[in-house]
Amino acid sequence: MTKDYVTINRDLWNAEAADWAEIGARLWASPEPVWGNWNNADDGLGLLPEDMSDLDAIELGCGTGYVSGWMAKRGARVTGIDVSAEQLKSARRFAQEHGADVQFLEANAEDTALPDQSFDFAISEYGAAIWCRPSLWLAEAFRLLRPGGRLVFLGNHPLSLICSPPSGAPCDDTLHRPYRGMWGADWTEVEFEPSGICFNLTMADWMALFLQIGFTVERYQELYAPDWAEGVRAAIPADWAKSYPMEQVWHLQKPL
Ligand SMILES: C[S@@+](CC[C@H](N)C(=O)[O-])C[C@H]1O[C@@H](n2cnc3c(N)ncnc32)[C@H](O)[C@@H]1O
Repeated sequence: MTKDYVTINRDLWNAEAADWAEIGARLWASPEPVWGNWNNADDGLGLLPEDMSDLDAIELGCGTGYVSGWMAKRGARVTGIDVSAEQLKSARRFAQEHGADVQFLEANAEDTALPDQSFDFAISEYGAAIWCRPSLWLAEAFRLLRPGGRLVFLGNHPLSLICSPPSGAPCDDTLHRPYRGMWGADWTEVEFEPSGICFNLTMADWMALFLQIGFTVERYQELYAPDWAEGVRAAIPADWAKSYPMEQVWHLQKPL
């Protein structure tokens, strides 16, 4: 990818921020965390520690900031960073409405300029997890974590990408692109719902990258759409996502 994807993605999110405020408001109001495209109940997924008292936590690509809000509610000292000033405006407004003490900063998750080893816990739900180059943002997350610190991230499953037609139409049961050599996709000029530039890797390449950076893998989860899901969300038909995993969650640790 030779395009300036950070600027392209930042401009996209600044332009679309207003459209995400309604979802942000709903999720800030959710009493318990819910995850991903179909807001799966946590139900033992355990993306966040139950008790986050005394933890320094960071959300990388926080968007409207509801995950940061849930972490603050669990007792963490929270920093949310995002490259989009407009998304951060929504995040700050919601934090104020909910009385959540979160520090929101404008920064690129690939190069935050925050101090080394300043966090115990890092998370990204569809933030840096898909919009940043994996080798860069994962190395940055590793740098930011203290030894023993954990990184959890949720993004699209590689299977959903290979089943997505190049036109940007919803994914289906055909393998539309090679798995081998997967890096992500440029959605800026597709026919249906153009957006930005997103990253993903094959399973083997994710694992090799974690090893190269120094992370150990604690857990890996695949998410399906719940039984009640219907229609199409984010170019994923509910029926497809009841049979195939549309999302993946990696739980990583920086060794002690
Ligand atoms: C779908 S939102 C995810 C956040 C949150 N879970 C939500 O849904 O509101 C994606 C966010 O990633 C941010 N983002 C994209 N590229 C980024 C980068 N290089 N550094 C930090 N944030 C980035 C976007 O600005 C956007 O707010």
